[in-house]
Amino acid sequence: MSPTEAKERIETLTAELKQHNYNYYVLAQPTISDFDFDQKLRELTDLEKQYPEYADPDSPTAKVGGEITKEFQTVRHRWPMLSLGNTYSEQELVDFDQRIRKAIGDNFEYVCELKFDGLSMSMTYEDGKLTRAVTRGNGVEGDDVTANVRTIHSVPKRLAAGNYPVSFEIRGEVLMHRKAFERLNNERIESGEVAYANPRNFASGTMKLQDSAEVAKRPLDCFLYFLYTDKPLFKTHWDSLQAVKSWGFHVSEHTRLCRSLQEVLEFINEWEQKRFDLSFDIDGIVLKVNNYAQQEELGFTAKVPRWAIAYKYKAEQVETELLNVEYNVGRTGAVTPVANLKPVLLAGTTVKRATLHNANEILRLDLHEGDFVYVEKGGEIIPKIISVNLDKRKPDAKPVTYLASCPSCGTPLERKPGEAAFYCPNDEGCPPQIVSRMQHFVSRRAMNIDGLGDETIETLYKKDLIHHISDIYELKDKAGELKQMDRFGEKSINNMLKGIEQSKQMPFEKVLFGLGIRYVGETVARKLVAHFKTLDRLKAASLEELTAVEEIGERIAQSLVEYFSGTVHHEELKKLRSQGLQFEAEEIVVTLQSDKLTGKTFVISGVFENHSRDELKEIIEQNGGKILSSISAKLNFLVAGDNMGPSKLEKANKLNIPIITDADLLEMLQ
Ligand code: IVH
Repeated sequence: MSPTEAKERIETLTAELKQHNYNYYVLAQPTISDFDFDQKLRELTDLEKQYPEYADPDSPTAKVGGEITKEFQTVRHRWPMLSLGNTYSEQELVDFDQRIRKAIGDNFEYVCELKFDGLSMSMTYEDGKLTRAVTRGNGVEGDDVTANVRTIHSVPKRLAAGNYPVSFEIRGEVLMHRKAFERLNNERIESGEVAYANPRNFASGTMKLQDSAEVAKRPLDCFLYFLYTDKPLFKTHWDSLQAVKSWGFHVSEHTRLCRSLQEVLEFINEWEQKRFDLSFDIDGIVLKVNNYAQQEELGFTAKVPRWAIAYKYKAEQVETELLNVEYNVGRTGAVTPVANLKPVLLAGTTVKRATLHNANEILRLDLHEGDFVYVEKGGEIIPKIISVNLDKRKPDAKPVTYLASCPSCGTPLERKPGEAAFYCPNDEGCPPQIVSRMQHFVSRRAMNIDGLGDETIETLYKKDLIHHISDIYELKDKAGELKQMDRFGEKSINNMLKGIEQSKQMPFEKVLFGLGIRYVGETVARKLVAHFKTLDRLKAASLEELTAVEEIGERIAQSLVEYFSGTVHHEELKKLRSQGLQFEAEEIVVTLQSDKLTGKTFVISGVFENHSRDELKEIIEQNGGKILSSISAKLNFLVAGDNMGPSKLEKANKLNIPIITDADLLEMLQ
């Protein structure tokens, strides 16, 4: 390579890697596999070594990679949060081991740990209390996400009495278990929200949320793997892990002390397969020199410790033939392409299909008919096409073009500006939309109708007995037709009709969620009902009134306005109402526990160790107090927890409003 070519290549790689870092750390939406990223990074490192004069001073090889997001307070790490050197090759582990032996001799051990595939977090404890949690950010500074981390059950908010130092920092990985990922991601898909590609992105996207109440709904876990203290407390990393565990932290049981590289390689090989049996994703194994004095002797390079390295598992890839692309129409009309593949064995299972997400993905792959594609199975459930083997493409192969009209009803597809998915707009006449809408309505999380499952809905639709949700409530008058149906005995008919009748008592929020309005998932439905209380008020709400509700953005508001402006929807809602479904929030009759707080007003702010804000609100209201939404001269008390915004505090002080803790509040009730 000539120097000019090297310069150009360095510039290209630098720009590409910067973009990938941004996609990964800031957007939590990587567009490249870890392996490909690491290959590019390595190529750049090698080129910069040869041509240091062309290296960008801000090169991705010189820093950890993350960026700081704007919404959180930026905090400087007391000890920089470094990355780890990594490799995919056993030979490089041998080299790593040799380098260590050369520096410190042969008398040392390794601690082998799983390399958790999540996002790293640094937590500070003072007097046994969690005082701060900060993301890695750019390694030097990160985001203060304490309120969010407090919602993670396995992170102790307060340690039981024990032998821990007054102040320490502990680092670990926040992750989401695969089961929770599947469940929550399916919920997102069902309500028309953008799905996350894998549990890591979901965990990382969750940590970026501004509303910790929403974070609390997404179960996360945190494995701890490093302790920092002012004065050294332990001689080895292994001892520190044991101690940390005894203080109440979640430390993985799959950690092993190895006395030779041979033992390390055995650990690595063992987990190569076993990792698929874990309930969470790992992407490799980390080995760390156990003894702290030896770690110190080995020291650091500019970016990574010399006493630790990550061995990364290459996501298993196979090549197979693309048979065709099939298009599925979902409940909200979104048309999703799926690749049918020639069956092939991959990581222990036969793969026949791969997701293509949307039209952009087909373009990214530049997919052609009959292509041979590389399929990869990371932690994800559905395998993904990584790239195409261009050497095997037939010269006359035609590019795969996205459908122009609905595969089911033929209506021309539409795409909204800024959205990746194409939609079939014929929601009233497109069979898969009609069927899945009714299936969604009766599903467990919506109206939970006993005796009426997906298959029955499909059969009833095919027999022309149901078309709209309201038709379900007319089935009781069609006993004759129902009895004619195969495998549909009197008992199951009665059971179904009973379930349908009982569902009329389901609360308004379930009905609203069940209607399947695009972007109205369970949480949104709950928020809307809590705010507007009745269907009539919700229907009458303007875009501005809708977006004024906490967590209701432009997109959801627009979708609601569109839904309620349709005459068909109008008729349907009228019918459902006359059939006896609930369209008003249940009035909760509050019996006051006492009137000790009558006439007093409160604002609750911040995060509390022993109560959620909602609990405190309820306590106040049940004792006659009133909650105000903002601090004003009318306010009697500000109940303040941790991490309250400084402006609120300032305002309360200015107005001389007493600031009390949750404990003070409870005392007022004694
Ligand atoms: S030790 C200086 N141990 O991998 C030591 N990191 O590629 C730094 N990670 O930033 C970290 N599992 O987010 C360590 N058992 C483990 C880990 C682990 C996952 C992550 C961590 C780190 C990244 C480096």
